[in-house]
Amino acid sequence: MQQKILILDFGSQTTQLIGRRLRELNTYCEIAPYNKLPENLEGIAGIILSGSPFSVYDEKAFYTDLSQIRGKLPLLGICYGAQSLVYQAGGKVEPSPTREYGRAKISVKENDQILKNVRENGIVWMSHGDTITELPQDFKIIASTEDVPAAAFRIEGEETWGFQFHPEAFHSEEGMAMLENFLDITGIKGNWSPSSFVEATVKELKEQLGDDKVILALSGGVDSSVTAVLLHKAIGKNLTCIFVDHGLLRKNEFETVLKDYEHLGLNVIGVNAREQFFTALDGVEDPEEKRKIIGKGFIDVFDQEAKKLKDIKWLGQGTIYPDVIESLSITGTVIKSHHNVGGLPERMNLKLVEPLRLLFKDEVRRVGLEMGMQEHLIKRQPFPGPGLGIRIIGAISQEKIEILQNADDIYISMMKEWGLYDKVWQAGAILLPLKSVGVMGDERTYEYTIALRAVTSTDAMSADWAHLPYEFLAKVSNEIINKVRGVNRVVYDISSKPPSTIEWE
Ligand code: XMP
Repeated sequence: MQQKILILDFGSQTTQLIGRRLRELNTYCEIAPYNKLPENLEGIAGIILSGSPFSVYDEKAFYTDLSQIRGKLPLLGICYGAQSLVYQAGGKVEPSPTREYGRAKISVKENDQILKNVRENGIVWMSHGDTITELPQDFKIIASTEDVPAAAFRIEGEETWGFQFHPEAFHSEEGMAMLENFLDITGIKGNWSPSSFVEATVKELKEQLGDDKVILALSGGVDSSVTAVLLHKAIGKNLTCIFVDHGLLRKNEFETVLKDYEHLGLNVIGVNAREQFFTALDGVEDPEEKRKIIGKGFIDVFDQEAKKLKDIKWLGQGTIYPDVIESLSITGTVIKSHHNVGGLPERMNLKLVEPLRLLFKDEVRRVGLEMGMQEHLIKRQPFPGPGLGIRIIGAISQEKIEILQNADDIYISMMKEWGLYDKVWQAGAILLPLKSVGVMGDERTYEYTIALRAVTSTDAMSADWAHLPYEFLAKVSNEIINKVRGVNRVVYDISSKPPSTIEWE
């Protein structure tokens, strides 16, 4: 079993960031809701208690009896986690006269192993409304800041520490050193690597799936592709993949991606369902209605294909950790399951297998590369499920699809040529059904407008428009207007998210 650090989540916004930081230190960790502490601590090398929106003395505060774990393994409380250690042991935590927020300079008071390589007067990040005003016996201050005497403490005779500040925060310049020291103490620092992940996961999948058959929907995106290759490594021919062409993919994408998949040795059924989708979308203008039709059409096609196969027991899915964390309320109930292909597992009576559910996006990419997948598959930008269907504003027609595919292809190919493709989060062209007047040669034209969109982002929750070079935009505009019939105007979208969204529909 892979040894891990368990992060107990008391509801802080930075809990996920703690996980990120440990993974940056190549160490395996999992986040669990505060009330899901396993009785058996086997496989857990250390525990971190997160912050919380509550005060420890609130009636509704999330409570976990920490005496169950104290002294049994290395333990680190952060902010609320540290205050809980103090409060439960009989110390005092009170509202601070002023909320302490922002940078603070740390002064080391004790030579403790958790503070190794921490610089005197180095910066840590404070964000708290309560302060520890009295420490219980055996709790010893090891570092202070100007305003907070008990900025860091240790419980004597135990490997238990508490930090009032947030070592995981980006602005905590000394934070990584402290987290690294904690990992050193647990003895598992650096235990996560793509190759160890592949090896352990393939073994687990073999045990979990035995001779069962699995079906998986491929989208051409990174997550589903890596999931497929991983499953294929574990169960080979017992994995069947379905790749649906709804006719709203990028130019030639269906054919090239299908070839890539076959090249990887996957057993893929490529389904050309263009007509079916096109008919269902005829005359539909409303974006949400288009989304619904495409989503439902996808499920229908997938279901039809799956029925032709025999004895399928499992549905594979490319769910990744941010989706899982988003879906977990603090009590562990699923609120949202946006990666479930619209209720497919229930409808088809299948069990779910999601081998990437504990990985972050960049780790998924590293795993893909480790398994020998081609870079262009791994570095692919996100592309929405409904594809160009939500990049043609209003009603869709064959003519508009063709125009948009051609314009988009010029844009994306040139981004690759100019070395810009890997620098943005995602890019694409949008067809505006707005005709305007132009002049070509001696002729007046009256044609569509293409909008170009490119954004930088880390998670698609917020995004900025990419500051692409003018020379590049000028060339793309020229190429599109000269080569794509039906377009006489190109504009660039300079809106950020929020208040705009990445997609136009
Ligand atoms: P927005 O437009 O909400 O997009 O800023 C955020 C991210 O989600 C993608 N997106 C979708 N993906 N089905 C999908 O699978 C959809 O209906 C959909 N709408 C937006 C978008 O491309 C961006 O990466």
